[in-house]
Amino acid sequence: MSAQSPQTGQKRITAPDIRARKGGEPVVCLTAYDAPMAALMDRHCDLLLVGDSVGMVVHGLPNTVSVTLEMMILHGQAVMRGAHRAMVVIDMPFGSYEGGREIAYENCARVMKETGAQAVKLESGPTVPETIAYLVQRGIPVMGHVGLRPQAVLTDGAFRARGRTEDERLRVMAEAEATADAGAFAVVVEGVAESLAREITEAIDAPTIGIGASSACDGQILVSSDMLGLFDWTPRFVRRYGTMREDVERALAAYASDVRARRFPAEVETYFSKKPT
Ligand code: KIV
Repeated sequence: MSAQSPQTGQKRITAPDIRARKGGEPVVCLTAYDAPMAALMDRHCDLLLVGDSVGMVVHGLPNTVSVTLEMMILHGQAVMRGAHRAMVVIDMPFGSYEGGREIAYENCARVMKETGAQAVKLESGPTVPETIAYLVQRGIPVMGHVGLRPQAVLTDGAFRARGRTEDERLRVMAEAEATADAGAFAVVVEGVAESLAREITEAIDAPTIGIGASSACDGQILVSSDMLGLFDWTPRFVRRYGTMREDVERALAAYASDVRARRFPAEVETYFSKKPT
């Protein structure tokens, strides 16, 4: 089942399409935050996540806790303008869904209406699967997120891999199963050991989308600015496919040097008044 983009007439990938990829061709996902990058990613990715990581990688915040619904809507609208084929999922920010399922429904419905995106993502703590079931039953496709949950950084104390003790392992497994049973069409599994990622992937019907969770998952996602090489430091699980930081640095230094030496603008970059006829 596919929806059509009103702009291009292209078929857009939907939640059931992603769901049907379980155990098949790996699902290619990246985070996206703006229209031009989403347009470049559209051809290559099955799913673009407007991650609340936008708070850290675009807005310079220390974590995702202070990201607002308005920020997610603004970036979601931009991504929807750039991408016409990939499925677009919007991360629900901290505080927008934990307070009760009715509040969650209201906020998720607002995000879907104002962005036109196909689904939302919720970090699935112990109480969230019940909310996911409520949303799915009311027509909102939901992606879950288990393992390392960045929105729990203040209670957890740090961003660190999850499920390394037996207790934690059982908890993450139970949250993944409850999330899938609640009807999530896919589940992000972040920062867990390969054995746990494999166990979750084998146990649940929904595709698992790994980030720092090994190749045992049904698909992969990375924060785009990390894999493009925008930052000096990235977590160990990131592979850099680009040298964006160096490329931008080089371009900025060349521009500054040309302006200071009056090499820019040259004649070809200058408008002249028309000669009188
Ligand atoms: O916000 C985000 O970028 C995410 C990914 C890490 C999955 O949730």
